Amino acid sequence: MLFTSPILALSALVAIATASPRICQTHASKTTNSSTIKCPIVLDGRVPANASLTSFDTANGLFNPDYVKGNNLSWSDILLFPTVATNSRFDSADAAQYKPIEVNINNASVYQAQYGFRRAGLLFANDSNTGSLGYTGVKTLHWSVQQDPQRALNLSHEYLNVWHESADYSADQIMFQAGSILAQPGLARDTFKVFDRNSSLLWSVAMDLEGGWQNFAVTLDVTANTIQIYYSTGTDPLQAVTDVIPTDLSGDGQFQIGMIKKPTGTSDVVNAGYQEAPFEEGQIYGGLFVEDSAGGCISL
Ligand SMILES: *[C@@H]1O[C@H](CO)[C@@H](O)[C@H](O)[C@H]1NC(C)=O
Ligand SMILES: *[C@@H]1O[C@H](CO)[C@@H](O)[C@H](O)[C@H]1NC(C)=O
Ligand SMILES: *[C@@H]1O[C@H](CO)[C@@H](O)[C@H](O)[C@H]1NC(C)=O
Ligand SMILES: *[C@@H]1O[C@H](CO)[C@@H](O)[C@H](O)[C@H]1NC(C)=O
Ligand SMILES: *[C@@H]1O[C@H](CO)[C@@H](O)[C@H](O)[C@H]1NC(C)=O
Ligand SMILES: *[C@@H]1O[C@H](CO)[C@@H](O)[C@H](O)[C@H]1NC(C)=O
Ligand SMILES: *[C@@H]1O[C@H](CO)[C@@H](O)[C@H](O)[C@H]1NC(C)=O
Repeated sequence: MLFTSPILALSALVAIATASPRICQTHASKTTNSSTIKCPIVLDGRVPANASLTSFDTANGLFNPDYVKGNNLSWSDILLFPTVATNSRFDSADAAQYKPIEVNINNASVYQAQYGFRRAGLLFANDSNTGSLGYTGVKTLHWSVQQDPQRALNLSHEYLNVWHESADYSADQIMFQAGSILAQPGLARDTFKVFDRNSSLLWSVAMDLEGGWQNFAVTLDVTANTIQIYYSTGTDPLQAVTDVIPTDLSGDGQFQIGMIKKPTGTSDVVNAGYQEAPFEEGQIYGGLFVEDSAGGCISL
């Protein structure tokens, strides 16, 4: 099986093997009852307010309990429920029903034998590597992030936070990144940057390092091979920040949400390089879902 494959010799510019299993696709889409979510949700990672950390260690309907995380870690070691002033935009319509979740990494966040990276990434439970309902036709991935000043990222490093990786692990069709991009040192480090599969920068925005919500969405027209990016802060409605951009979305695959921290001082980022230790870093997420944008539907 692919996920037992040995150490991968990938460069900084190519995809990061998630080594996730293929998941059977059985569910139909469902419509949500929320004032801000307008379209049918096909992949739902909104965390119920009554969820427990240990619920993520076994089958839980939201995220894959097995991937992608440090070898000896459980999700209940990795995830936290942070205290935030307000819920993110798409969690706040039903304030009592959802809460944010923080994905954390430290020196033990070594996946398989990828000793260059420190990583933890959530896979939607119902996402599948091929034939996913979340990656066919026109779909919009939503995510909100907030920085935790107590567990701040070290922006001297390159981070991959949200991406969609092709089924053969050879490419990431879209990448949402932070920090110092190793291959593009001219880019500001304290920004979130969205790249296409060729690592061409499509759009960027300053990170709010003080801890406010930043809301993102990307509409992926997998048939027409286009993307469009949306953004807002706080509980404001999203606005388009790019035109519809032609791109190459081929190759199927899965979404991943969390953090890969690349090392410094190496060209072999998967296996080698420098990572400080000890460290504790987290990224707070809210409003995680994929909606069906057929017919131009999008929740703003
Ligand atoms: C995932 O699919 C299962 C099986 O069809 C379904 O019961 C469940 O509601 C889906 N979960 C989410 C979060 O959409
Ligand atoms: C949506 O949820 C609210 C609060 O939970 C409820 O009062 C309302 O009846 C629901 N609307 C529909 C159409 O289900
Ligand atoms: C959370 O609340 C829902 C709805 O009341 C319930 O079905 C579910 O079992 C609860 N989950 C936990 C982990 O308590
Ligand atoms: C995981 O635990 C096993 C058994 O205790 C140990 O041999 C291995 O070195 C640990 N791996 C990591 C990455 O800490
Ligand atoms: C941030 O990362 C750089 C590069 O690895 C390292 O030199 C520095 O010590 C780190 N800073 C902190 C505060 O850990
Ligand atoms: C990406 O690179 C390939 C190979 O160099 C090229 O054919 C393609 O046009 C590029 N795509 C974009 C969107 O830049
Ligand atoms: C950090 O992790 C690496 C890789 O597992 C290990 O070799 C190293 O000893 C760890 N450093 C500390 C300070 O724990």
